[in-house]
Amino acid sequence: MSEIERPVVRPRRLRTTPAMRDLVAETTLRPSQLVLPLFVREGATEPTPISSMPGVVQHSRETLRKAVVEAAEAGIRGVMLFGIPESKDAVGSGATDPEGILNVAIRDVVDEVGDTVVVMSDLCLDEFTDHGHCGVLDAAGRVDNDATLAAYADMALAHAAAGVHLVGPSGMMDGQVAVVRAALDGAGHTDVGILAYGAKYASAFFGPFREAVDSSLQGDRRTYQQDFRNGAEGVREAVLDVEQGADIVMVKPALAYLDVLRQVRDAPELRGIPVAAYNISGEYAMVEAAAAHGWIDREPAILETLTAIRRAGADVILTYWAVEAAGLL
Ligand code: PBG
Repeated sequence: MSEIERPVVRPRRLRTTPAMRDLVAETTLRPSQLVLPLFVREGATEPTPISSMPGVVQHSRETLRKAVVEAAEAGIRGVMLFGIPESKDAVGSGATDPEGILNVAIRDVVDEVGDTVVVMSDLCLDEFTDHGHCGVLDAAGRVDNDATLAAYADMALAHAAAGVHLVGPSGMMDGQVAVVRAALDGAGHTDVGILAYGAKYASAFFGPFREAVDSSLQGDRRTYQQDFRNGAEGVREAVLDVEQGADIVMVKPALAYLDVLRQVRDAPELRGIPVAAYNISGEYAMVEAAAAHGWIDREPAILETLTAIRRAGADVILTYWAVEAAGLL
């Protein structure tokens, strides 16, 4: 054997045993940091599987209640609700109707679990409009920012009346957080918080979600969701949301945007503001599809994915794996 210079510094010492690795692990992942997104379909009597998201369903009102109870028992502290209406129109009337599916579902869930789970709602028109855009359109067919704000204010009031704890404005209209905060406060709902989709990018990874909510969208959302070439703009959007009254800011999608997540977490203007990240439908589908082919080991891939999102700076993670991951932890 030839003479070699033997290393003095040996980082491997801290990797020798599971106990040693646990002792020095920098990042934690706990069930209480996970939020489960759930879909509920108006008029459904049975859950309907979503083929592009194996294991995820469109719930009936009854199975939604059961799913939330199951999540609570697993230690999950939040659910994000999405409604799929039976009929849609140009202005998304179902979103503000107190008997609309999302408002009914919020009441059901709050009735079921009270305040043991934080009940959150997607505050956006896209599930309710026949054109599938997140806002109402002007005469030229463009998304009308300010007309949409009025609809968001009404939607926030409907969700608050139904008992929601946090509304999640996700339409990326300018000024949406301020309008929602003012509407809630004006009606005395000062305790209802805002989880703002601060940095939300026009992403190909939303694909499976479009099936999940039976989206009727033609075209894309690039005039309101952000351009994926921009990172600093994501921080700017999150800062604006906090200035307008957001309680929590979210980065979405998560995996192709871990750098944005880190920038948002480190922005001095956002110190002390909890940051969430949404591990979205396409990110879920990629892992599920590869695992179904036997190309990756599913459970370790799930835990590595979620831990990486925490490591990049997320305090809270929205994930379709929330209940299963809680079981693995
Ligand atoms: C908007 C909304 C979307 C998602 C959450 N809220 C769709 C979109 O912006 O196109 C996507 C969630 C996912 O892909 O898992 N209502």
